[in-house]
Amino acid sequence: MRGALILIGALLALAVGGTTAQTLPERLAACAACHGADGAPAPLANAPSLAGQPLVFLENQLVMIREGLRDIPSMKGLLDGVSDADLTAMARHFAQQTLKPQPGARDAALYARGEQVANGNRCASCHLPTYLGREQMPRLAGQREDYLLHSLRAFQSGQATGRDTIMAASLYGLSDADLKAMAHYLAQLAP
Ligand code: HEC
Ligand code: HEC
Repeated sequence: MRGALILIGALLALAVGGTTAQTLPERLAACAACHGADGAPAPLANAPSLAGQPLVFLENQLVMIREGLRDIPSMKGLLDGVSDADLTAMARHFAQQTLKPQPGARDAALYARGEQVANGNRCASCHLPTYLGREQMPRLAGQREDYLLHSLRAFQSGQATGRDTIMAASLYGLSDADLKAMAHYLAQLAP
């Protein structure tokens, strides 16, 4: 009798635990609210579209975010206790999607300036001539323009805590107008 009661208690505990713990699909639905679902661009201003990013880049960033090294106020606590295996599954989910970008209207002069600044600063040496990224280097082509500018400014002003310092070095000496032009150019490229 006593054994049966203990067993029932254990089963109840399991059932309760099972309903509070979030499943991977539930977590992914929460991500999509800010980062876009099924390859749609991020619906939130200054948030990155994750679809089609290199797997290694996503895995690295997710670990940095979970550990609080890359501090993102709107994602606070979201990855607490998520296992490495689940982070990899999340990364794979987004890496396998194809981004359907929605760039704004092209400003020919700004685009030309952005292309010139990016070429002059050898951005493609790491991000690839197609700007599709590889390994730990993110795809920039087709990314939200506001997010590109937001992150370039953060790198340049030393506010990109927990991010690779190689980026601040790559932007040394560039003006804010240069950053704006590059963000416009890169957002217009096909992913
Ligand atoms: C409430 C909005 C919000 C939610 C929900 C959210 N994120 Fe984010 N996420 C952001 C913002 C904003 C940034 C960019 C922050 C910055 O650099 O200033 C970001 C950045 C990221 C990055 C870095 C990408 C890059 O290009 O640098 C990854 C990876 C990421 N989020 C994954 C996720 C995953 C996976 C989930 C779901 C578990 C999630 N996010 C849920 C808002 C959100
Ligand atoms: C030496 C290699 C290298 C060069 C050169 C380089 N980058 Fe990067 N870039 C990286 C790496 C690595 C990251 C990821 C950094 C991190 O998140 O820790 C990155 C991240 C970025 C991001 C953030 C994107 C995101 O999704 O969060 C932008 C924007 C960017 N680079 C733009 C540029 C531009 C524009 C240039 C040229 C002026 C450039 N990069 C040159 C290596 C490089």
